[in-house]
Parts: sequence; structure tokens; C-alpha cells
Amino acid sequence: MRKIDMADQIWARLLAMRGGRTGVTAAEESDPIVALYGPIASASGSFVLAQVGQSLDGRVATPAGDARDISGPDGIAHLHRCRALVEAVIVGVGTVKADNPRLSVRAVKGPNPVRVVVDCRAQLTGDEKLFHDGGAPVILIQGHDAPPISYAAEVLRVRRTEQGLDPQAMLDALSERGLNRILVEGGARTIARFIDAGLVDRLHVAIAPLIIGSGPAGISLPPIDQLSSAHRPPARVYSLGSDILFDCELRQAASSAGMNGQKIRMADHA
Ligand SMILES: NC(=O)c1ccc[n+]([C@@H]2O[C@H](COP(=O)([O-])OP(=O)(O)OC[C@H]3O[C@@H](n4cnc5c(N)ncnc54)[C@H](OP(=O)(O)O)[C@@H]3O)[C@@H](O)[C@H]2O)c1
Repeated sequence: MRKIDMADQIWARLLAMRGGRTGVTAAEESDPIVALYGPIASASGSFVLAQVGQSLDGRVATPAGDARDISGPDGIAHLHRCRALVEAVIVGVGTVKADNPRLSVRAVKGPNPVRVVVDCRAQLTGDEKLFHDGGAPVILIQGHDAPPISYAAEVLRVRRTEQGLDPQAMLDALSERGLNRILVEGGARTIARFIDAGLVDRLHVAIAPLIIGSGPAGISLPPIDQLSSAHRPPARVYSLGSDILFDCELRQAASSAGMNGQKIRMADHA
């Protein structure tokens, strides 16, 4: 297992790589820190990272919705590094309603990403913390037929179908605003829709040593009968310290299997 022990110098180097401004040198390629974060930082076109922080038993919250402090301090630092390396972080409206998050970079030094909330039916009231905390800009993505409500945020309208909003249409709308390196941070339903659409390049699953016992899972797929039908993306395993991280290459797995994302199907209740 590779160990992630971040030093200020290599972190500064990764921040300098953002958006492909400088590439990874041959000498850096064997460094586990560069192997983990380099592809996120140096992506010059569209790049989608999905991240789940979960317990040993695969839960991301209690049944009552408490999701704070699942990840240990090194898992939190990892999440904040990912936020600092992308241009925008996406969460679903369920996460904002449950956690009222700031979605900022606090555990490490680095820039704050633009905050994007998928709120198809305009369920947010406008009173939520992220609209008023003076942090990075907020973009709301709503269905074309969502009721008009005034927010301290830019509102993007995307055509709503029976399946909801097309994740590719969301990425296109963000790309038009220069936002191409994206972190999909949760919750399970939002991540599921991006994976289902075959749009996730990397999936990070950070596992912390606690057992919650019941509660929602970070990823939910339709049942399979045989383990031979399970998805087995190429993965590297890293010790973050307090948490263990699986870095899965989803896009490569889908295309090498000729799936183009179509076979990675999420359950309707995901
Ligand atoms: N541990 C972690 O890593 C982590 C991270 C984030 C959140 N969480 C936890 O996850 C839970 C929330 O997850 P969740 O799955 O219930 O909610 P969620 O994914 O945050 O939000 C789901 C809602 O977002 C909207 N949405 C997302 N993608 C959409 C699309 N493509 N088209 C249309 N609407 C879309 C839908 O709203 P409509 O219902 O209006 O259609 C959907 O119901 C909370 O308990 C939170 O604490 C854990």
C-alpha cells in the first residue's frame, strides 16, 4: 500500500500543476502523491472525480442523516486537497439540506472551488449557509420548469426529463463557464447519476475505521446474482493515515470493457 505523507513542497508543486500549466516530470511519475493527485491537478480538459467518505461497513451517514466526522483528519485533508485542485465541486440538494455544508478548503492551503448544487425542483429556500458565508461563488442547477426563486447565486436551467437532469448537460453548462475539473462530492444519488452516465474518470472511496451499523451507502447498484458480474475497476490503494483510500479508474474500466458507461447502472433508489 502506498503512503500519502504530504509535504509543503510537493503540495505547492501540485497547486502549480492546476489546469495543465505544468506537467508531471519523469522523475515525479513514481511518486505516489503525484500518482494520486497529479491526474486531477494537471487535467486540461474535462475531468470528473467522485469522492465518497465512508465507514468500514460502507455507510456515509446515520439513518438520522448525521454525516459529520465519518472521515478521520487525514481523510478530511484529502477531501480538501481534492477541492483545492478542482474548479468546481458539485453536491445534490439532499446534501445541502442534510449537512448545510460550506464546501470550502480549510484543512489545507489552496483555492476554494466554485460551489454547484443540483436542485432540480428549487427546494432550497435561499437561507442556506453557502449563499451567505462570503465564500466562493455558488451556482444552482435547476430544471427548466423549476419555480422561479431569487437566490444569491447564478441559476443555470437544464432541461428536466423523467430521468431528471442530464449530467452531461450539467457538465457542458459548467464548461461554458470555464469549469472543467469537477469534484462530485455527494450524496449517493448525485454520484450515482454521474457514474451511471459514464462521466466519472476517477472514484475515490475513503474508508475510516468506524462501524455505523445502518444508514445510507455511498454507492448503490441494482442487485447482481454472481460476483462475476461485479464491477472491478483498476484501483490503487493508499494509506492516508487515519483513512484508507481506494483510487478507482472508472472511465478507463468502462471504455476498456467497451461499456462507455452504459453497464454501470445505478439502482433507482440510489
Ligand atoms: N460521506 C460522504 O462522503 C458524503 C458526502 C456528501 C453527502 N453525504 C450524505 O449523503 C446524504 C445525502 O445524499 P442523497 O443521496 O440523499 O442526496 P444528494 O445526492 O445530495 O441529493 C439528491 C438530490 O439531488 C438532486 N439531483 C442530483 N442529481 C440530479 C440529477 N441528475 N437530476 C435531477 N436531480 C438531481 C435530486 O433532487 P430531486 O429530489 O429534487 O430530484 C436528488 O433527490 C446526506 O446524509 C449527506 O450527509 C455523505
